Amino acid sequence: MNFKEGMLREGSLKGKNILITGGGTGLGKAMGEYFLELGANLVITSRKLDVLQETANEMMSQKGGKVLPLACDVREISQVEAMWSAAIAEFGQIHVVLNNAAGNFISPTERLSVNAFNTVLDIVLKGTSQVTLTAGKFWIAQKQPGVFLNIVTTYAWTGSGYVVPSAAAKAGVLALTRSLAVEWAKYGIRSNAIAPGPFPTEGAWSRLLPGDLVKKFDPAKKVPVGRVGEHQELANLAAYMVSDFSAYVNGEVITIDGGEWLKGAGE
Ligand code: HXC
Repeated sequence: MNFKEGMLREGSLKGKNILITGGGTGLGKAMGEYFLELGANLVITSRKLDVLQETANEMMSQKGGKVLPLACDVREISQVEAMWSAAIAEFGQIHVVLNNAAGNFISPTERLSVNAFNTVLDIVLKGTSQVTLTAGKFWIAQKQPGVFLNIVTTYAWTGSGYVVPSAAAKAGVLALTRSLAVEWAKYGIRSNAIAPGPFPTEGAWSRLLPGDLVKKFDPAKKVPVGRVGEHQELANLAAYMVSDFSAYVNGEVITIDGGEWLKGAGE
């Protein structure tokens, strides 16, 4: 066995219906593929239905299970509520919400327009809050348990220049995660977060580090273990966090970054 292999045993997520925002590409897709392998069904959402449809077909042919693609801009509450209703109509119940949709720019803050700043806040903090509120209200009304897993970054607590709207929004998502872990535990709802370090994806890396920048700022150089992450490593952690094996983990954020953020602090 090694870190590039799946960690949980077959069927560990059997019977779970898992909603992944931003599930059509990148890390959302990678986590979803492993959830399917472990027996889950998926709802994947993003703004691009054609991309989602293609991903859903690919996932179902390679991993089995059922994948429902639903277009949804998490910034629009009417779209979030319609998406949730369609997911419930198809599956009857959603057991896990993985809040993964995000938006980000690397830019000196003074060069961002107010609209650019608000766009990131809206996708990350407002979008996550709207999906969370919609799911949480439903679970509480139905007296059904649920699990939230939210994707944040370590600069939610360290802060970071040049990604200020993202840092502010992710700090908000972390506070949301911890606060609901306390308030909604009585309803059987758990809330946790994962803070991934550098995991290469086509979309985010080409957008955030275009052209030669990805070579110039080789992300592996900043990581004490000397490499970037493998998607399966993140998928293993996410699968554990949404499974019943982590039933006693609540209000936690788990960093998976090879020690990257501590290197910045300690060297
Ligand atoms: C500065 C920018 C910009 C950029 C757009 N804007 N791109 N400003 N730098 N690179 C401005 C626009 O000019 C506009 O402001 C406002 O932002 C809204 O832009 P739109 O294109 O209308 O927005 P929209 O179509 O809603 O697209 C949202 C998006 C897009 C965030 C711009 O990139 C997106 O959807 N990204 C999703 C995927 C993503 O970003 N993933 C990265 C997450 S990874 P004006 O004033 O002109 O109207 C991550 C990990 C952390 O966060 C990594 C740490 C380094």
